Amino acid sequence: MLATSYRGKGRIRVEQKPEPRIEHPNDIILRVTRTAICGSDLHLLHGLVPDTRVGCTFGHEFAGVVDEVGPSVASLARGDRVVVPFNIACGTCFYCQRGLTGCCDNSNPCSTIGGGAFGYSHTTGGYEGGQAERVRVPFADIGPMKIPDDMHEEDVLFLSDILPTGYQAAEMGAIKPGETVVVFGCGPVGLFAQKAAMLQGAGRVIVVDQLGYRLETAMTFTPGVETIDFRQTKDVVAAIRRLTDGRGADVCIDCVGCEAQGNFMHTLLGKLMLEAGSATAIQWAIDSARRGGNVVLVGVYGPPFNLVNIGTAMNKGLTLRMAQCNVKRYMPALLEHIRAGRIDAKSIISHRFPLEEAELAYHVFDNKLDDCVKCVLIPPEAA
Ligand SMILES: NC(=O)c1ccc[n+]([C@@H]2O[C@H](COP(=O)([O-])OP(=O)(O)OC[C@H]3O[C@@H](n4cnc5c(N)ncnc54)[C@H](O)[C@@H]3O)[C@@H](O)[C@H]2O)c1
Ligand SMILES: [Zn+2]
Ligand SMILES: [Zn+2]
Repeated sequence: MLATSYRGKGRIRVEQKPEPRIEHPNDIILRVTRTAICGSDLHLLHGLVPDTRVGCTFGHEFAGVVDEVGPSVASLARGDRVVVPFNIACGTCFYCQRGLTGCCDNSNPCSTIGGGAFGYSHTTGGYEGGQAERVRVPFADIGPMKIPDDMHEEDVLFLSDILPTGYQAAEMGAIKPGETVVVFGCGPVGLFAQKAAMLQGAGRVIVVDQLGYRLETAMTFTPGVETIDFRQTKDVVAAIRRLTDGRGADVCIDCVGCEAQGNFMHTLLGKLMLEAGSATAIQWAIDSARRGGNVVLVGVYGPPFNLVNIGTAMNKGLTLRMAQCNVKRYMPALLEHIRAGRIDAKSIISHRFPLEEAELAYHVFDNKLDDCVKCVLIPPEAA
């Protein structure tokens, strides 16, 4: 079958790989009909996630049709259409019982930090990803959600990751009615966090990015947001204070992660001294929050050490919250938001490529070419 294959830092291509097989009674094999490229895949591609092995298939956002069913699978049958959370979760461990499917104890048993995920290096269990014609989905009675008959895969594809991630980010901000929220990053995750902040009662949402077309997308996707282009702004933190009576924002959300730009020293020190990635966005979030405010981090940090000024956070009395999203528990409610038209998730898709052209798709998304916001890949059988 065709699948993406990592070839070392900065290189990915599509090649023929062996078909996945049922390995455990609760597995299914899914025929993928839609899969997307995530900002998290760029961290993998850039070699920032430890133990990303050559030959592995990326892809943790996918939907498709059940093709084979393991003997213990009770809730799915061949032919069912499903969308699959990026977290792989057993459903029964200490964490899964508490809804923390991103922390599952059984899907990535050797890890001290987190649960399993599709296509995200051996740090998250070494599972093959869904940027392929077929993919093995373990714990099939736990993760996948059936797609209602009247909905297309593209309507619900982003329930696999970025929509719940943006929504959970806003929720962790504990936004009180009328509060001011700053969202750093206008990529797909930022766009959904901004939308969710409004739905959760924010009075103002200020969004920060460096790409004019993404700031414009943010204004269309969530009418009423105020924008800051950090390339056109001498001091982002001062600009946010000016917009918030000198105090700072009630809630700041980092939807950028370890490849943030905009602070030369952070980037240089991160790269040269600590191999840490850049902490610019989380630092801006800490500096732009008012005293006693909430700071949320959902941008991904792979490397362990960062130059984050934790003393400022402590002295300002900030509440810091962060997580890999626990996707499953947000799926039902967000499906209703999509159905009711409150969130038009698929409208953020800017590009569709055949799976065979995944290398080009990565190039376009990575380099933000052609006003790219989100790429979807379509395997040949689904085209
Ligand atoms: N926690 C989770 O469960 C989870 C899930 C999905 C994605 N993520 C992470 O969320 C982050 C965003 O994902 P995405 O798909 O939107 O990525 P993306 O690369 O498409 O978007 C990132 C955006 O941040 C902007 N940016 C760069 N530096 C910035 C700065 N200093 N301030 C403000 N904006 C800045 C970029 O111009 C870009 O538009 C990534 O780190 C990704 O790994 C986390
Ligand atoms: Zn993702
Ligand atoms: Zn579990």
